Amino acid sequence: MSPDAGPDVAPAARIRAFEPADTEPVVALWRSAGLVVPWNDPYRDIERKLTVQPELFLVAEAAGEVVGTAMVGYDGHRGWVNYLAVGAAHRGGGLGAGLMREAERLLLERGCPKLNLQVRSTNTAVIEWYRRLGYELDGAVGLGKRLIPDGVRPPVPDAE
Ligand SMILES: CC(C)(COP(=O)(O)OP(=O)(O)OC[C@H]1O[C@@H](n2cnc3c(N)ncnc32)[C@H](O)[C@@H]1OP(=O)(O)O)[C@@H](O)C(=O)NCCC(=O)NCCS
Repeated sequence: MSPDAGPDVAPAARIRAFEPADTEPVVALWRSAGLVVPWNDPYRDIERKLTVQPELFLVAEAAGEVVGTAMVGYDGHRGWVNYLAVGAAHRGGGLGAGLMREAERLLLERGCPKLNLQVRSTNTAVIEWYRRLGYELDGAVGLGKRLIPDGVRPPVPDAE
């Protein structure tokens, strides 16, 4: 590993900041991981993130391929992680946990006291995974109000 490379999180994987050339592989990874929904345009999500703390948009790379992502942010009160994904062929090797550890490290470095994340109500399987990393149900209910529509959202009461 070169001295300026990111942390090793799984054999041959390293975490670095997103670069524009990652756009297509990142969107493909999100689609394959089931994270793209019709009412979120992933390209616009990437464009927007590049205007706010782009250095916290993390990509895991192995053998020159994008194999994981975590879109991290700190709003001055809470840290957030969105678009956590690991490619199916690379799961179970600690990469997802490594991305979360790196997110926590970067947030702590910025003085962030707490990390929040939202899990879609259709993705409850991942809750147990987060619990194993020390995350707890908060007793809070997530609410959202769309300010810029990217696409058509179906009339599902609990959709993000
Ligand atoms: C969630 C996700 C990022 C995890 O990535 P990963 O690289 O497979 O995770 P890790 O290998 O770091 O998992 C660490 C541990 O959790 C365990 N684990 C994996 N999935 C689990 C699950 N559903 N429930 C409980 N434990 C689980 C692993 O066996 C491993 O345990 P070990 O360290 O004791 O061997 C990946 O499954 C993914 O991309 N899922 C689809 C996208 C998604 O749902 N993202 C979250 C949006 S909120």
